[in-house]
Amino acid sequence: MSGNVGIDLSGKKALVTGGSRGIGRAIAIRLAEAGCDVAINYLRSRKPAQETAEAVEARGRKAFTYKVNVAQTEKLGDMFAAIEEEFGRLDILVSNAASGVIKPAMELTNRHWHWTMDINAAALLPLAQHASKLMGEEGGHIIAVSSLGAVRAIPNYAAVGASKAALESLVRHLAVELAPSNIRVNAISAGVVDTDALKHFSNRSELLDESARRTPAGRLTEPSDVADAALFLASDLAEMMVGQTIVVDGGYSIMG
Ligand SMILES: NC(=O)c1ccc[n+]([C@@H]2O[C@H](COP(=O)([O-])OP(=O)(O)OC[C@H]3O[C@@H](n4cnc5c(N)ncnc54)[C@H](OP(=O)(O)O)[C@@H]3O)[C@@H](O)[C@H]2O)c1
Repeated sequence: MSGNVGIDLSGKKALVTGGSRGIGRAIAIRLAEAGCDVAINYLRSRKPAQETAEAVEARGRKAFTYKVNVAQTEKLGDMFAAIEEEFGRLDILVSNAASGVIKPAMELTNRHWHWTMDINAAALLPLAQHASKLMGEEGGHIIAVSSLGAVRAIPNYAAVGASKAALESLVRHLAVELAPSNIRVNAISAGVVDTDALKHFSNRSELLDESARRTPAGRLTEPSDVADAALFLASDLAEMMVGQTIVVDGGYSIMG
């Protein structure tokens, strides 16, 4: 390739749900490095959200934090009103926040099931509805963060896996409906990434060792790897990416 095809998102406005820690934080920082102002949503812990906001500001961009459970549909309007007030519009929505109960399917209660589905899958619909209004005629990019459990059976992962499958399906349907409005909707499915989320797995260290060993690229997927894919999907370079789920896992999932 000749020439410098850097990605410049100067002046763009982004919202990263679950942007305070882990993969969401890496995405927020990468978008800021490319020129975005970033709204950082979180659920419980203010301090990491504040630290991410400071990291965005250290890159010369605006940031603010917003605490809301993305599953509380009726409260999302206030978050988007805050974004409109702070930023005037929205160009990029990264639906990254996730939670979920890691248990055998036969031990899942109704509460576990709905908690997981509501946060990981159902929230994308109202988020996209609000976001598309703030994107207006100019359009924008919606990126959902998924996992390999959407298409693979992983022990104790029934609720989260099913929620991610629903998420990826919703991405395709939203992508078709919003493409004429110049809004591109896609997903990133990440391999195992060593974040706080893995604390919920009793076999965390074996999971990490096994993933690293089985990954053709020779190492675990890092939050920054997912952030790089998000940066691409948030840019004009991804104009013809519509309703896709890009796998970022160093080749883990193609191994027999
Ligand atoms: N880690 C992996 O191996 C892996 C692999 C594939 C895909 N993913 C996906 O990558 C995304 C990020 O995962 P991660 O590992 O970075 O997670 P993480 O380190 O556990 O961080 C989760 C983030 O989401 C926020 N959050 C959780 N529930 C929320 C809710 N209901 N409303 C708003 N914010 C909420 C948390 O805020 P608080 O800190 O305030 O609670 C935190 O900012 C998720 O979609 C996950 O499924 C992760």
